[in-house]
Amino acid sequence: MMQMKTKFIMIVVLSLDGKISDNSKKLPNWTSKEDWKWFQNMLTICDAVIVGRKTYQVAKNNIDKRKAFVLSKKYKGQIGSVTFADSLKKIKKLAQRYKTVAVLGGQDVYSAAIKIDMVNELYITVEPIILGKGISFLGNKILVRHKFILKDSEILNKKGSILLHYKLNQTHDRNTNKDKNL
Ligand SMILES: NC(=O)c1ccc[n+]([C@@H]2O[C@H](COP(=O)([O-])OP(=O)(O)OC[C@H]3O[C@@H](n4cnc5c(N)ncnc54)[C@H](OP(=O)(O)O)[C@@H]3O)[C@@H](O)[C@H]2O)c1
Repeated sequence: MMQMKTKFIMIVVLSLDGKISDNSKKLPNWTSKEDWKWFQNMLTICDAVIVGRKTYQVAKNNIDKRKAFVLSKKYKGQIGSVTFADSLKKIKKLAQRYKTVAVLGGQDVYSAAIKIDMVNELYITVEPIILGKGISFLGNKILVRHKFILKDSEILNKKGSILLHYKLNQTHDRNTNKDKNL
């Protein structure tokens, strides 16, 4: 029997200063309604989602309705359609029974997903705002280069929220591959 190849799609909304959030306990209130609409449409083609425990807690009502995997050291097991696990490698294995899986952050999930090559496509919406303080997309956790190639881009609204769609070009640059955690 042919094995199904799961497509992992990373989806991120970024401020101009590279932040994903200015308050870890709340859903972002600085992103555009056009991005939200695009995001909801995108989720209709995803069979499952992966999030960190903090993101799960701020978006619990929406995530509980989906097949979801939550990265957490504190929580274990399964509640309804939500499965908790303490490593992203375990989650990757479990998620491989689905065709299309959305990787939705936050920072730890994004960086770990890149480290274990769990991203085939990357959608980034850049919102025209500087947040100042807050949580950055990847922190300083990625130690090697990962190359992407731009497939599409779209201006979503008049203020200039921009949606960028990348595909992975090369998993990591062998000349600079000094990441011991890979
Ligand atoms: N702009 C965007 O696109 C976007 C996307 C997603 C989220 N957000 C925002 O980002 C914020 C939350 O992100 P965040 O980065 O603070 O948190 P997060 O990544 O959602 O969750 C962090 C939690 O994940 C678990 N975790 C992390 N690394 C782990 C590991 N190696 N092994 C096991 N468990 C691990 C821990 O849970 P335990 O404490 O339970 O062990 C940790 O507290 C929210 O404000 C959310 O709205 C924005």
